[in-house]
Amino acid sequence: MTLFFVLLMVAVAAADERGTEEEGRMFILEKWKEVVKTEAGEVRVVKGSGWAGAPSPMHLGFISMEPNSLYVPQYLDATLTLFIRRGEAKVGWVYKDGLEEKKLKTGDIYVIPSGSTFYMTNTGKGQRLHIIASISTADTLGLGEFQSSFIAGGSNPASVLAGFDKQTLAAAFNISSEEVESVMRRGRGPIIFAEEAKKKRIRLMLRSWAAMEENKGKVTSPESYNLYERAPDFKNDYGWSVAVGEEDYQPLMRAGVGIFLVNLTAGAMLAPHVNPVATEYGVVLNGEGSVHVVFPNGTAAMKAEVREGDAFWAPRFFPMCHVAARSGAMEFFGFASSGKKNRPQFLAGSGSVLRALAGPELAAAFGSEEEELLEIVEAQRESTILPPWPTSSS
Ligand SMILES: *[C@@H]1O[C@H](CO)[C@@H](O)[C@H](O)[C@H]1NC(C)=O
Ligand SMILES: *[C@@H]1O[C@H](CO)[C@@H](O)[C@H](O)[C@H]1NC(C)=O
Ligand SMILES: *[C@@H]1O[C@H](CO)[C@@H](O)[C@H](O)[C@H]1NC(C)=O
Repeated sequence: MTLFFVLLMVAVAAADERGTEEEGRMFILEKWKEVVKTEAGEVRVVKGSGWAGAPSPMHLGFISMEPNSLYVPQYLDATLTLFIRRGEAKVGWVYKDGLEEKKLKTGDIYVIPSGSTFYMTNTGKGQRLHIIASISTADTLGLGEFQSSFIAGGSNPASVLAGFDKQTLAAAFNISSEEVESVMRRGRGPIIFAEEAKKKRIRLMLRSWAAMEENKGKVTSPESYNLYERAPDFKNDYGWSVAVGEEDYQPLMRAGVGIFLVNLTAGAMLAPHVNPVATEYGVVLNGEGSVHVVFPNGTAAMKAEVREGDAFWAPRFFPMCHVAARSGAMEFFGFASSGKKNRPQFLAGSGSVLRALAGPELAAAFGSEEEELLEIVEAQRESTILPPWPTSSS
């Protein structure tokens, strides 16, 4: 009964709010840091957010790599969920003590668990590689921050091996201390052009780390999952949406994330809804539009214009809706803070909770006649993705 009234208040507030001025950008993620920038590529991390000071369950990483580049071997204290936005990549990582190499293409999702050593190369011919990643912070050493530990590279980036003294390394690798010195002086940055990567030393160090030759071929790591090859969960004339959870792709359980992708045609609206399971972090992939978020107490929280590249979020239980600009389609992608199947509760449209509850109790709560109420909640015949509101031509 309580949820019922909260939803009602929310529905009314959302309706009242229509047409008011923009309420700031409190659910737009605007803090970002460039963590890598070299000639061969860059990595930007957009800081996630949690409600009321709670640590964010994730940050968003935007990786871009030039053709023929390599992101040198490293491990993180955070689980990465990669989404290949554009291009082709090869990810090599140490899975159960063997080296696994996976080829990834546009639309692929792939999970690299925290603590696994991996590297990445752009294998697309003459094509830049763009990756959007969630960086889950559940395992991190510090509160909400995360740390990359490079295992090769010498001084730039600083290799974790550099923390050991020369004699220890010489003994560990069974090489002379001169050789140790010469290896540890090298390194041309975290993302480099691959010709340099072919230098034997990097592979040598990776090999010692993983003893991969003995184990190669004995294990198979999980396959990737392509978001664009799967049929939409919902589709009508105004757009489509897809949600992928751990039931669809088991590695998401380890990451603790779900994934969604929505494409709205010009002017269409993803109906007001609540995510009862997870907090959502989204990124506009194409087009522009607006994102509306409402506090659970029924006060407008944000109505902000967004465009390609903008990141936004909505805490669990906060009603929200997304509207594509009239000028064209808007496509957005995102991560949810849980891999459990997302069952959004819609507050408007034919699949809404109001429609499900329509009856004397709901009429009484609105203080209206049942017939009048039915007329209102049944006026919208579409569900989930709603058509553009006709332009004011009347
Ligand atoms: C160390 O290297 C030397 C010379 O290459 C070799 O003879 C020896 O077997 C190696 N020791 C180990 C433990 O690998
Ligand atoms: C999204 O929809 C528009 C048309 O509304 C279409 O042109 C575009 O290709 C779609 N995007 C994807 C990824 O399917
Ligand atoms: C609703 O909640 C928000 C966020 O906690 C708060 O800022 C706002 O004042 C509340 N509004 C009302 C009417 O209680």
